[in-house]
Amino acid sequence: MNLLELRGVRAAYERIDVLFGIDLAVPQGSVVALLGPNGAGKTTTLRVAAGLHQPSAGDVLIAGRRVNGTAPEELARRGLCLIPEGRGVFPNLTVRENLRMMTYSGKSLSAIEDEAYRRFPRLKERRKQLAGTMSGGEQQMLAMARGLATKPALLLLDELSMGLAPIVVEELYEIVAQIAREGVSILVVEQFASTVLGVADLAAVLVHGRVARVGTPRELQDDLSKAYLGGEPG
Ligand SMILES: Nc1ncnc2c1ncn2[C@@H]1O[C@H](COP(=O)(O)OP(=O)(O)O)[C@@H](O)[C@H]1O
Ligand SMILES: [Mg+2]
Repeated sequence: MNLLELRGVRAAYERIDVLFGIDLAVPQGSVVALLGPNGAGKTTTLRVAAGLHQPSAGDVLIAGRRVNGTAPEELARRGLCLIPEGRGVFPNLTVRENLRMMTYSGKSLSAIEDEAYRRFPRLKERRKQLAGTMSGGEQQMLAMARGLATKPALLLLDELSMGLAPIVVEELYEIVAQIAREGVSILVVEQFASTVLGVADLAAVLVHGRVARVGTPRELQDDLSKAYLGGEPG
């Protein structure tokens, strides 16, 4: 079964079309990488999937059910979690206070903290530190811990690796792989192929609002050239 499916999704900002018929599926329990250059429409695709941007045509299906027009809060209740570009942690709150905000979901702070620190031991050491003073990698860990506090079935990650050193990105992707092994389906967006292909089951390349290529990481590795990604392959 596909946990998420986009069928012929078109999207626009004002009158300007940016997605031109996206077909994309995330099978249950898999990691799908959505790659492509800056401006290709990756973030818009995630926003459409999360109910934050209404498609101008096409369908969004979650677990086989059409969800066009469903409010983002309702999709979140049904198990969808988007971790946005730029991470969306509160810089002037401590790690713990950032986690505490997730108690709205009904879980206790101690349960949320236990889970967060089990997965990201470094956050425990930093629990009293203001999030904005942590490294980019630690802030990404906090963003992921916040998202995972709601026990999502489908995780949408937007440019996890942005601005991070390769070794930190590798560490984060090991955690992504672990989350996937626990049964969470994941759609992850990256500008460059880099480390993400090592953990993905499937990959798609988005260029100018169209899916230019879909395949296994092995199939795609060969043609993920400068021509597609507009920069050095990772
Ligand atoms: N809020 C917005 N208003 C108008 N145009 C936007 C907005 N957000 C994105 N765009 C445009 O939509 C296109 C796709 O953007 P985006 O989905 O952010 O691409 P990516 O994430 O692949 O870089 C780009 O041309 C971008 O300039
Ligand atoms: Mg983007």
